[in-house]
Amino acid sequence: MSVILAKSAGFCYGVERAVKLAEQTAREKGSCVMLGSIIHNAHVVQDLEALGARQVDDVSQVQPGETVIIRSHGETRQVYQQLEALGAEVVDATCPFVKRIHRLVQEAEAEGRTPVIIGTRTHPEVVGIASWCWRGMVFEGPEELERWAALPETSPGLPICLVSQTTLTANLWNLCVKIVKKQFTNFRIFDTICKATEYRQKEAAHMSEICQAMVVVGDAKSSNTSRLAMICREHCGKVILVDQASQLEPDFFRGVSDVGITAGASTPAWII
Ligand code: F3S
Repeated sequence: MSVILAKSAGFCYGVERAVKLAEQTAREKGSCVMLGSIIHNAHVVQDLEALGARQVDDVSQVQPGETVIIRSHGETRQVYQQLEALGAEVVDATCPFVKRIHRLVQEAEAEGRTPVIIGTRTHPEVVGIASWCWRGMVFEGPEELERWAALPETSPGLPICLVSQTTLTANLWNLCVKIVKKQFTNFRIFDTICKATEYRQKEAAHMSEICQAMVVVGDAKSSNTSRLAMICREHCGKVILVDQASQLEPDFFRGVSDVGITAGASTPAWII
């Protein structure tokens, strides 16, 4: 059986930066707080906890004056305000590509535009982006966007600014762009899909076309990883998503001559 490993597999720039910042802070301070999962990978989180980084789910669990690491997905404006009120020292590991989207929606609103955000409504990155503006609209995909655009109260002349979650697929994005260009007359469109994600998704699509089976390595809670598995399933009938090698069964590979391996942005190289 031949095994093809995706060139893009493993940590992306933003996740690597966040993990390094968390490691460095934990070593320097002896203790610090990770607000939410710094990345969607239980193994990495455990290693950081061993260095003295305590994970909390909510800002209410932060003690006054503690050092708090903001994860790569970013946080809401309200969380920054609460941390400031607590006198916390903030180590901001928000990925610069996500920070850019925060700025874009803020600036759009200052110009009188309605920010239109495409992404998974409940995903922390999208919740964070939506919090940096007051009148942002969030749609999960082209169907929702089209329904809203067709409402009688949605004026075709409404000035809008279109952005997306960094991990959105190019396919969904292109459909949304088409709708905006068709239904609105005053728009600004910013392609905010992370290029690392786009490359990873394209590579996974290509590999799943030529391989008989695909193994996607990563945490199922990661949007990046679950979208990769979704893309692979569009082209290949045999796809498995695992968090570690021990979850693989020999039966899965029976009769398979070529297997491809890809991994989400939160998967450390040693797991792959
Ligand atoms: Fe940033 Fe892209 Fe990774 S947005 S966190 S570099 S997937």
